[in-house]
Amino acid sequence: MKISGNTILITGGATGIGYAMAEAFLEAGNEVIICGRRKERLLEAQKKHPDLHIKVCDVADGADRKTLVKWATANFKKLNILVNNAGVQRDIDLTKGIDEFMAGESEIKINLEAPIVLSGLFIPYLTGKKKAAIINVSSGLGFVPMARMPVYSATKAGLHAFSLALRHQLRNQAIKVFEMVPPAVDTELNPEGRVKRGNFKAGLTPEEFVAAVMKGFQNDVFEIGYGMSEGFIKASRAQLDKNFQQMNNRW
Ligand SMILES: NC(=O)c1ccc[n+]([C@@H]2O[C@H](COP(=O)([O-])OP(=O)(O)OC[C@H]3O[C@@H](n4cnc5c(N)ncnc54)[C@H](OP(=O)(O)O)[C@@H]3O)[C@@H](O)[C@H]2O)c1
Repeated sequence: MKISGNTILITGGATGIGYAMAEAFLEAGNEVIICGRRKERLLEAQKKHPDLHIKVCDVADGADRKTLVKWATANFKKLNILVNNAGVQRDIDLTKGIDEFMAGESEIKINLEAPIVLSGLFIPYLTGKKKAAIINVSSGLGFVPMARMPVYSATKAGLHAFSLALRHQLRNQAIKVFEMVPPAVDTELNPEGRVKRGNFKAGLTPEEFVAAVMKGFQNDVFEIGYGMSEGFIKASRAQLDKNFQQMNNRW
């Protein structure tokens, strides 16, 4: 994929991996639009990069999804890349029943339903473009689930399966489907969980991860991992089972 001259919408682009992608794509010579729920974070990002376009949007909300697509396609006729990056992660202990799951924000709506619906809404617009792409941000935990984040892991496994299926459906069109598979990256994801784990640090910045991802895009690597998650993408079932035991043996 050519990484310059595109018009790119990144969901959840005001912080973390999405923001690092926004910066990298701006630097490479693209028009970049970011969206998210918190206006102050979008404005903060725009203050650092006045070329960024911003839109408040909750991708969990059906009406907001439609408004986003209508607004983006009306205002950015050249829009040719959608990055489904917005995501949330929660520790959920189902041994205590269903209350915890029901009480918080929906990982299913944000991490899985939104990328599916946004892809479906954008595909008719992307179909007419000479070159287009849908980029889904899944997770290493979609390959090796973390038991303390069961629903998150399931949404990411679902997003991986969806990416495979969508890539096949779109094989005769000029819409490439990429899947970014981050390992643990130091961002604002799951702040409560990180505190619980003694302010866990992965030792990998979003910028380092995104620098590797940009190379993957250039080389048309359709599943882009890094470090541990690159291993997961290529691992045998036996190896994945071993990884599962190692990652979950203390919980
Ligand atoms: N960090 C990691 O270790 C890691 C590992 C694997 C995969 N990932 C994936 O990478 C992606 C980016 O996460 P991150 O690590 O960069 O965390 P982050 O800094 O918390 O970024 C997530 C972004 O998504 C936005 N968002 C969340 N819910 C949204 C909603 N309903 N509507 C619109 N925007 C929403 C957030 O903004 P608002 O709250 O303002 O809406 C935030 O800007 C996620 O899909 C995550 O699952 C991260």
